[in-house]
Amino acid sequence: MKSFDVEQVIEQLTLEEKAQMCSGRDFWHTQNLDRLGIPSIMMCDGPNGLRKQIGEEDHLGIHESIETVCYPTESAFASSFDLDLLYELGKMLGQECQAEHVGMLLGPGINIKRSPLCGRNFEYFSEDPYLSGKLATAYIKGLQSQGIAACVKHFAANNQETRRLSGSSEVDERTLHEIYLPAFEEAVKDGKVRSVMCAYNAVKGTFCAENGILLRDVLRDQFGFDGFVVTDWGAIKNRVKGLLAGVDLEMPGSTEGKTAAIMKAVEDGSLKVEILDEAVRNILRFVKEAVDSQKEQADFDRDAAHKKAGEFAKECAVLLKNDGILPLKKDQKIAFIGEFAEKPRFQGAGSSHVNVKHTVSALECVNGLSVTYVKGYEATSEIVNEQLVREAKAAALQADVAVIFAGLPEAFESEGADREHLRLPENQNHLITEILKVQKNTVVVLYGGSVMELPWEENISAVLCMHLGGDHVGKATVELLLGEGNPSGKLAESWPVKVEDNPSYLNFPGENGIVEYHEGIFVGYRYYDKKKMEVKYPFGHGLSYTEFLYSDLQFDKKHINNHETLKVSCKVRNNGKSFGKEVVQLYTGVSESTVRRPKRELKGFQKIALYPGEEKKVEFYLTGKDFAYYETKIHNWFVESGKGTVEIGSSSRDIRLSGNIVIESDMELPIHFYRTSTIGELAKTVKGREVFEKLLMILGNRKGNDENAVDSAMGEGSKRMRQVMMMEMPLNALVTYGIMKDEALEAMLENLNEDVNAYKAEVMEL
Ligand code: BGC
Repeated sequence: MKSFDVEQVIEQLTLEEKAQMCSGRDFWHTQNLDRLGIPSIMMCDGPNGLRKQIGEEDHLGIHESIETVCYPTESAFASSFDLDLLYELGKMLGQECQAEHVGMLLGPGINIKRSPLCGRNFEYFSEDPYLSGKLATAYIKGLQSQGIAACVKHFAANNQETRRLSGSSEVDERTLHEIYLPAFEEAVKDGKVRSVMCAYNAVKGTFCAENGILLRDVLRDQFGFDGFVVTDWGAIKNRVKGLLAGVDLEMPGSTEGKTAAIMKAVEDGSLKVEILDEAVRNILRFVKEAVDSQKEQADFDRDAAHKKAGEFAKECAVLLKNDGILPLKKDQKIAFIGEFAEKPRFQGAGSSHVNVKHTVSALECVNGLSVTYVKGYEATSEIVNEQLVREAKAAALQADVAVIFAGLPEAFESEGADREHLRLPENQNHLITEILKVQKNTVVVLYGGSVMELPWEENISAVLCMHLGGDHVGKATVELLLGEGNPSGKLAESWPVKVEDNPSYLNFPGENGIVEYHEGIFVGYRYYDKKKMEVKYPFGHGLSYTEFLYSDLQFDKKHINNHETLKVSCKVRNNGKSFGKEVVQLYTGVSESTVRRPKRELKGFQKIALYPGEEKKVEFYLTGKDFAYYETKIHNWFVESGKGTVEIGSSSRDIRLSGNIVIESDMELPIHFYRTSTIGELAKTVKGREVFEKLLMILGNRKGNDENAVDSAMGEGSKRMRQVMMMEMPLNALVTYGIMKDEALEAMLENLNEDVNAYKAEVMEL
């Protein structure tokens, strides 16, 4: 393929050719233009394997695609908390794309897990925006290092499958910016992602494919995105509106009617040709980059990649519980129970579904061990089979330890449909309960892409979550069970005690296509921690076969302003007997905010490897923004002065070290004061604070004898009540109670509000 000059091509294109260029040639290719030597570029689904279709095409994983490698899904990879691993995954996918002449991989999916009921959570990273952004960025960098474009999806607030093609996510501005957009921002700013896929759904009533606020104001202007926007497959409703809003490429290929509509709009002036040119330019730049980075000789070693998939799976596994039974000993008599031991579930259903020749099961990897296998239940059914249960009990009784392979069948979680509950199938729960009656040394291995309710968990000795671990998940499982590898994954999503505890529960999946995000910023652990609620397993949780000791928390300063960087360090030591990896997590918080804030928010993590007895120093760098919230008054992040907390933990509920710093921010909000504003509110601005101090003195001096007497009789309670009342007092009351004349209050307000109108949000930028 020959390179070309984008601008020269645009100059030579006819209006019709420009309009055609903005739609795909077919299901998976951009439009070619032989007259000017513009080739067609192929794009394929990911994110955890290459779904390249060369026969019949579809976007739901129905028809065959080429035989390839299935890596662990994104939900699994998120638990690795390992950016190098994500980079490597991206790189390997990029190498395969090069070998297969694919120019763009449709991934990663970075929507936030608002509810564990979202059927597609297996394809997303986390409930946490910071973690999602970092993981996505590492993946993107790896993929794009091979000259293959990544495409983050689905922009934005696409957090459920119910009404996914037509619903509207009613999410407020602060929540959008604090929870649902940061991962995209990181992917654009740091990851330099080449493409963004706009979602099917609407946000606040406007379809994402027609949403100029999201696609132009936020994505291009605020985040600085310079790649191209592609629609989700079939997301376009009105092609002209899409172009106006900032959609460049419509996929899959469009009908002639849409090309005609674009041409007509340009001819009648309702669509400026410059806007069309801009879309064409964005697409052609991608085509040119794909041409320029195409490697002539690109091979991909699938056998090596399959093995790698198994190594990845080991890094992603989360040891949820262990009373010491794991790792198993090689001379133990072990019963493997459950059909998943023979046929593991290892990937999700839908557009990410890849074609794998062979999946390595746990049962295939028991050479040299004393393992018996019984089916226990049928994976495709929910109905209890008493005969299978009886056989399983007999096997468990004969063994030293029973390992039950359980989890979610494919029908329980899939793209296109949300989950109805978090339960395992009845036949699996029944089997586990029955086995526990005869064998107390019972371990459960879980295969599934999302949260599961585990009613028998208290009586189980250990639970090892392997997620949807890719085509070598069985090998990884056995190795971890035997201690040939040490689990080091952490949950990227809270596991609530019951689904009803989830903050979105009452508003999921919405009504009549409208889903209200009433829980606001309190998603996942932000909610459970604020409410001090019990959870089954907290965000960031994951055990190890060894033990880590945390010590020596240090800050390089005790005060920071909003322009400074704070260096935080601590030491972590492997105090156990085996090599292991720990994910050191850093959370920030603020006390005494004027707005509702989560108790803690993840703002840093590092995965470190330690030999027994080894100690490492871990360093983090924080800025003012790590303590900020999104303030809608300025449409930007705002750092408040006050006390900041920094916590270092092994999970969000296992905080090992913590300390405070003082934040001295010079940021100020443009507050307009009214007669109804309170005295307390005055303290929020510099000018207001001067008035506030004066008023405190005046009001303090005016306290009468009676009040002094009440204070001394009632003590601190009375003082506090008086203080609160004073802070809550509207400025108007200063006139009512004769402290100020009406004209004086008006003059004071005029003075206080002088600067507000001149205020420019730009100066507040961090
Ligand atoms: C999915 C996308 C996918 C596309 C192409 C859509 O239904 O939502 O994630 O990339 O199909 O298969």
